[in-house]
Amino acid sequence: MYRCWLRYDKIKNKELMDSYIRLCSQIVTDMYTPIVNSAKAELTNGLFSMLGTKPNISKTPRGSSFIMLGILGKNEYIDREILESEKEKVCKDGYIIKTIDKEKERFIIIASKTEKGILYGAFAFLRFMQMQRDIDNFYLIDNPHNPLRIINHWDNMDGSIERGYAGKSIFFEKNKIVNNMDRITDYARLLASVGINGVVINNVNVHQTETRLITKEYLKDVAGLAEIFRNYGVTLYLSINYASPIELGDLDTADPLDERVKQWWKDKAEEIYEYIPDFGGFLVKADSEFRPGPFTYGRNHADGANMLAEALEPFGGIVIWRCFVYNCLQDWRDTKTDRAKAAYDNFKPLDGLFHDNVILQIKNGPMDFQVREPVSPLIGGLENTNHVVEFQITQEYTGQQIHLCYLVPMWKEVLDFDTRIGGKSVTVKEILSGSFYKNKYSGMAAVANIGNDANWTGHQLAQANFYGYGRLAWNPDLSSESITDEWVRMTFSNEKDVVDTISHMLLVSWSIYEKYTTPLGIGWMVNPGHHYGPNVDGYEYDKWGTYHRADIHGIGVDRTVKSGTGYTAQYSKEVMEIYEDINTCPEELLLFFHRVPYSYKLKSGTTLIQHIYNTHFEGVEQVEEDLIKKWQGLKGKIEEESFNHVLERLNMQLEHSKEWRDVINTYFYRKTGIKDQLNRKIY
Ligand code: GCU
Repeated sequence: MYRCWLRYDKIKNKELMDSYIRLCSQIVTDMYTPIVNSAKAELTNGLFSMLGTKPNISKTPRGSSFIMLGILGKNEYIDREILESEKEKVCKDGYIIKTIDKEKERFIIIASKTEKGILYGAFAFLRFMQMQRDIDNFYLIDNPHNPLRIINHWDNMDGSIERGYAGKSIFFEKNKIVNNMDRITDYARLLASVGINGVVINNVNVHQTETRLITKEYLKDVAGLAEIFRNYGVTLYLSINYASPIELGDLDTADPLDERVKQWWKDKAEEIYEYIPDFGGFLVKADSEFRPGPFTYGRNHADGANMLAEALEPFGGIVIWRCFVYNCLQDWRDTKTDRAKAAYDNFKPLDGLFHDNVILQIKNGPMDFQVREPVSPLIGGLENTNHVVEFQITQEYTGQQIHLCYLVPMWKEVLDFDTRIGGKSVTVKEILSGSFYKNKYSGMAAVANIGNDANWTGHQLAQANFYGYGRLAWNPDLSSESITDEWVRMTFSNEKDVVDTISHMLLVSWSIYEKYTTPLGIGWMVNPGHHYGPNVDGYEYDKWGTYHRADIHGIGVDRTVKSGTGYTAQYSKEVMEIYEDINTCPEELLLFFHRVPYSYKLKSGTTLIQHIYNTHFEGVEQVEEDLIKKWQGLKGKIEEESFNHVLERLNMQLEHSKEWRDVINTYFYRKTGIKDQLNRKIY
């Protein structure tokens, strides 16, 4: 469980084993930099574990078969075999893997224009071997689609993790950076193996102790972490407290236009870069959920972000500024204010005013990581500002790693969403890759789901979300099915039954979870605070701006221009028209965009109330049929420890899904008095 998808089980098939051994007994490279050394170590490790023999490492080939690692254009051997046209196809940090079959020599080239690309190539090669692919005629050119592929940790220095469901922080303990770096090295390996190239190690809510991470007290230790990540091509970033100049006792203001504040951050940046020459930059949650920010001084987000950007600019650092800004002190009686509009309302007017080393980080939906939300209109809505999406791998609202909820299909829907900007087809993934607006920086970020649990993610199958995020950040065109297939083969086995069963479970799990939780995009029917389990009115009369507005007649929030909050106007004209009209609005988002009577007939002919009852019964049945029964069928085919662990989680899921079903169905039955047509038990 600990090794996740880097298991490297011994190859059982004799023929395959022979063919692998033939080509993999030697690694040749004349490079000795830390990243290439990592690539060598990974190959050595992986090959030894799969084949039982350790490859030799040498500067020049000895013998007639080997794996050659090198930089394109700088290695005679490689340059002889790789055509110019092939070299052109390899982008920065991409790689080519090619089997060369000559009369006297057969070898495999893993080459790139950068060292990181070599490391990614090595991991890819090992991945294909784990999936038992033929390497006798290997040919692959693969490039990262997104320049930034970042993981955000919400780790606090006391070791706790905000919204963490897999133990404590692997970085921090008792307000210090941990001593044992082995686990962090393993984490860096996992990140690099899927192509992640940036890590923010601390929570966006930067509390008192964490504010000090950018001081001498901690920078030496932070630099130690940065070195581990650097060896695996991962750049380290820190979340900062916007009010640091005050909090650290140096100034009485954090006004971004105050010269003393500007100088303070410039000096701070210089100090940080003395310790960490390739420091990535700052992630900032400002003027959001009670965090300090430029609003205090009557300044806007551009003023705030640009001031920090100027300080980091001489060193090549970036500011990642979050757009999760909304009024968290709303009056529930106020039906005009719509939280969904907040990010766009706050940031769209500033489009074009940010320095080019500022990147806005936008949650995938306009609210907050619900099980179903439309895509944030700010993605692509910003025409002249670098931006990245923020996904949440940690399952805050999607079952907290007790429920199986595989998020790759959800992320795929977001990435494939057609924004219709300018009346043309422009998908979210094209915007994020930077190819549409030609942004200087672009890509993806996501909140991590790992902790110090032995299996990293609490629920072992939640490792698939971590893996899937990395793979999608590398290549958003990969299908959910192919990512799932890779993950299951590497994590469990290549046995057909195992692959089919676990893939099925993963691929249906989001839909199952959605069925027994909140209906048709409305969201938020959770217990306040910890966000686990049903509580239909938990947030209904509260200040957070998250209302479903259910009464005896109907439910949903009218967000149309015609009669509602006008949120739909934030989209391109074509998308707006689709959402605006109840007949064209995708049904899974019906209650997000429209207020609907319970008797409203869905396209299937079922009424809304009956749909709510049906899906809630179905969801629970599917936990039994599609998850538990399927998993039980794998007894004896996967390791007992994993088998029992997952079964235990699935049984918990079953219990908790029943709670969801009964609370939701009962709530609506009591609100409406309308009976279930099938007379099932509702309380
Ligand atoms: C959610 C989450 C918070 C988090 C916040 C954020 O509201 O519940 O724990 O701090 O998002 O993304 O900043």
